[in-house]
Parts: sequence; C-alpha cells; structure tokens
Amino acid sequence: MIKVTKAVFPVAGQGTRFLPATKANPKEMLPIVDKPLIQYAAEEAVAAGITELIFITGRTKRSITDHFDKAYELETELEKKGKTQKLDVVRSIVPENVTCIYIRQSEPLGLGHAVLCAKPVIGNEPFAVILPDDLIDDGLRGATKQMVDKYERQRKSVIACMNVPREDTNKYGIVEAIPTDDSSLFKISSIVEKPKPENAPTTLGVVGRYVLSPEIFYCLEDTPRGEGNEIQLTDAISLLLNKESVYAFEFEGTRYDCGSKLGYMQASVEYALKDDDISSEFNNYLKERNI
Ligand code: G1P
Repeated sequence: MIKVTKAVFPVAGQGTRFLPATKANPKEMLPIVDKPLIQYAAEEAVAAGITELIFITGRTKRSITDHFDKAYELETELEKKGKTQKLDVVRSIVPENVTCIYIRQSEPLGLGHAVLCAKPVIGNEPFAVILPDDLIDDGLRGATKQMVDKYERQRKSVIACMNVPREDTNKYGIVEAIPTDDSSLFKISSIVEKPKPENAPTTLGVVGRYVLSPEIFYCLEDTPRGEGNEIQLTDAISLLLNKESVYAFEFEGTRYDCGSKLGYMQASVEYALKDDDISSEFNNYLKERNI
C-alpha cells in the first residue's frame, strides 16, 4: 500500500494583513492561545502518520526553524528549575521519529512554485500540502488524517473543499465537481483560481489541505504564471485533471481563516474556551462582558 509520509508547508508568504506584527516575525508564528499556527499544522501532519515535514521558507522566517529545533539553553534552564511540565511541552514539539527539512524559496513566485520547490525531496511519492493559515478543528483525528485515509484507499489526489459565500469566491480556488458513491468525495471536472463572484462556476471553495499525486510536479513545471502573476497550484491541478482524476473532499470540522484578522480572533476565542488553563475564567470574562 502507498503511504503518505511527507507534508509540505509553504511558509514563505509575507503576511501583510497582520502588519506590523509580521514585519520581522512570520505570520505562521502567530499564536492561537499559546501555540503558533505552524505547530498546529505540524501536529496535524504528525497525527496523520507523516514523518517528514518539509518547510518552504523565505526571508524573515528563521524563527520557524528555531521553533522546531532543540533549545539547549531553555531546556537546561527549565530542568534546573524543575519545571518538568514546561520541559515536556518544549521537548515534544517534534516527535523523535519526525524529520524537519527546510528549503528556501528564493523568489516569491506563488503557492505552486513553493510546492515545486519540494520536488527534489519528495520524488515519486504522494504528499500532503498544509497551509498553516487555515486552522481546522475536527476535535479528533485532524483534517489531514481524514484526507490521507481517502488517498490511501483511492490513490487519487484529494483536495479539501467547503462551501463559501458567493461574494468570497475571489479569495479561493473554486471547483466544479460531481457526487460519487462516497458522500464526502466529489470528482472534480474543473478548477479555477479566485474567480469573481459573477464568474464563479460554483461556490465550492478550496481550503488549505491537499493530498497530491507526484504527477503534480510535472504539471507545475508546465504551469505558466496566472492570478497575481504567480505560479498557482490551482492551475497545476487544472492540468492534472487532464491526466488523472482529482477529488474534492468535504472534510469534517470547523475551518478558521487565520490569514484574516477576523478568522484569527474567532479561532483565538474558540481555542481559549477549551484551553485547560483558562477556559473557565475566560468563559466568565465573556459572560461579564455579555458576549
Ligand atoms: C490559496 C490557494 C487557493 C485556496 C486558498 C485556501 O490562496 O491559492 O486556491 O483556496 O489558499 O486558503 P491564498 O489564501 O494563499 O491566497
């Protein structure tokens, strides 16, 4: 059986919507309560059985590498002070069987180009793509696990999708797809990047989780610059459709768009309400404020 063991995290984007917070810090390091977005994404990959985490990074992203690296001084300090719980938190960020690989995307040529940068380390295997801006809470296995299970059964690329408001189609890849015997899977007949609401064929939008067949790399190599003058993953998937079936997957769980201030704050509130340390006090605070 083909196993999905590699995941790509495109983290070279600038995060202009969060300036000034993202002037010197990566947007992927913004915390939801006490954990950076990139760690939620990495944990979701690990929960799906993935053992190689491939980060496509850029300038000002060094703290991501530091976050997943060993922190000798901090660990020694926590050990000396007997703060064993905190020490465990720091040490368990990357499980021992998991490897982190970093590739610099030297030019900001878009999501498709970022994924293509991973070709030398992925080779001829299926792989996941996880966009850390899209935080998905399914309360259990994680969206990537749901998708890896589908891929391993079907051996066809799977893309996470959800219905989006028509006025927002210009923020998403939009697919046209037909139902299959599996009520969560739809066979894609077309995909287009960020169409205007009046041109969008449907309102089924792509969210940031993909499990792709390695054929996508050849499609990416043939993909010209598209929307925003960037090489779009969506356009490469459109080429892939000429060679293989690709499925839209309606995942279980709630997705927060943490690339926007509103989605980020919604996620922060929801995760604070279930945080072991602060949930009850935070709940009381919201009640006092009549929220
Ligand atoms: C990217 C993709 C888009 C997808 C979206 C999901 O866009 O290009 O197709 O719908 O992620 O979050 P971005 O949000 O990076 O502009």
